[in-house]
Amino acid sequence: MSKLPGNAGLSLLGDKSLDFYRDPVSFYRQKMDKHGGRVFQSRLLNRPTAFICSVEGMRELLSEKSNLFLKDPTDLMTNMYGDTIVTTNGEEACLLRLSLTSLFTGRCLESQRDFISSVCERCLKDLSLSGQPECVYSVFKRLGTELVLGLFLNVRAEEQPELFQEIMQLCTQHWHGLISAPVNVKVPLWSSGFSTALEARDKLMDIIKDKLENDKEGFVGSLGSLPLPDSSAASQHLLLFISALIPKAVASLLTSFTLVLGGNEQEETRRRAGEDPDYLHRVLLEVQRLWPPFIGGRRIADQDSTLAGFHVPKGNGVIYISHGVHRDPEVFEEPDNFQPERWRGRNAGQEHLLCSFGSGPRSCIGSKLADIFLKDVCMYLLKHYDWCLDPPSQDLEYKWLPVSRPADPPTVSFTRLDQTRSDESDTS
Ligand code: HEM
Repeated sequence: MSKLPGNAGLSLLGDKSLDFYRDPVSFYRQKMDKHGGRVFQSRLLNRPTAFICSVEGMRELLSEKSNLFLKDPTDLMTNMYGDTIVTTNGEEACLLRLSLTSLFTGRCLESQRDFISSVCERCLKDLSLSGQPECVYSVFKRLGTELVLGLFLNVRAEEQPELFQEIMQLCTQHWHGLISAPVNVKVPLWSSGFSTALEARDKLMDIIKDKLENDKEGFVGSLGSLPLPDSSAASQHLLLFISALIPKAVASLLTSFTLVLGGNEQEETRRRAGEDPDYLHRVLLEVQRLWPPFIGGRRIADQDSTLAGFHVPKGNGVIYISHGVHRDPEVFEEPDNFQPERWRGRNAGQEHLLCSFGSGPRSCIGSKLADIFLKDVCMYLLKHYDWCLDPPSQDLEYKWLPVSRPADPPTVSFTRLDQTRSDESDTS
């Protein structure tokens, strides 16, 4: 069996985590050039790790061999969120998925539609009011936060502004701890990001537990009555669902959507997407293909195995890189070009070859909710606004971590499409 191309390096000294996290896209591109293929090895988090940048390799990892490549229970996510579905394996993960999925499908999901529309209306109705360009990433992150806090905790920004603000700040502190070094040190008058994050987590948990005890309505109510493995499972999952992760992923996709469809030259594309939901669907597939919010996901080999024909020893890490998978020229012709029509032509019916929401049995359980929400927001924008970059020339170079977005926050001017109509009716 062939050995993976590349060098897994020596313990600690050979570790490439810093290089990877500094610029993951340049990292994988350089390695692919050097090793002449889309699957190679390097050392990540001080573990020999296979990097998967091909569609075929991703499918093998996440679908066909999902029982051999497992989630890492020692992942940093466990430190911050406790034991949740994200880092468990086997039967426990299956049972959790079974329970939780019911909250994100069918009637539960349908019952949230009016709330989702009301969040769009509230957050987007005044985009043109100030006459000033808007920082779109911040607008969409706020929108995502209103969605998750309203949906999962029954805390609505317009009804309980102070509580909303407090939770939002705690979520930000908690998040910053997740991405800071995990050193729990607390010295008087100084505390590391991580211990501040743990304090924020404790305060969030108090709010969540109070909600679980007293609110019998909505998602909190349903979660409280689900069969879950232990008494802390409901609160830990709520902490995960209201974390900054989801608003950031939503803001990432909406920012990329706004940028690729902005300006006069995209007017026809905007008009068509606003009139034809199938075309909007293809536009959004292309947005997530080119700019997936998360760089990928990690697994550990539970036994000796193979991926893409290469030997992967037990205990080695594997990471799939969604940016690389989505630009695999074997599947996506002219992979760097934005071509919504590919989803009606050569790539029709191949949505499952994307991995922005993962793939296979451990794919995202919130993908339907995200799909409904993203389409509502995009439809609202398309029906009510024209928009363009303002100023027209901005550096749109992307950074890819923690979520993908231009490193310099882009600013966009919105003009209401129905302005002329309402002006006319005002004077009649
Ligand atoms: C734009 C929005 C979102 C994106 C891009 C996204 C992306 C992802 C990805 C890539 C994975 C797989 C990670 C892996 O393979 O290791 C995943 C898993 C997961 N997502 Fe999402 N997600 C989004 C929204 C949501 C929402 C709204 C929820 C629900 C509140 C959610 C809950 C989860 C959970 C619980 C898992 C773990 C599933 C498991 O391990 O079995 N996500 N998501």
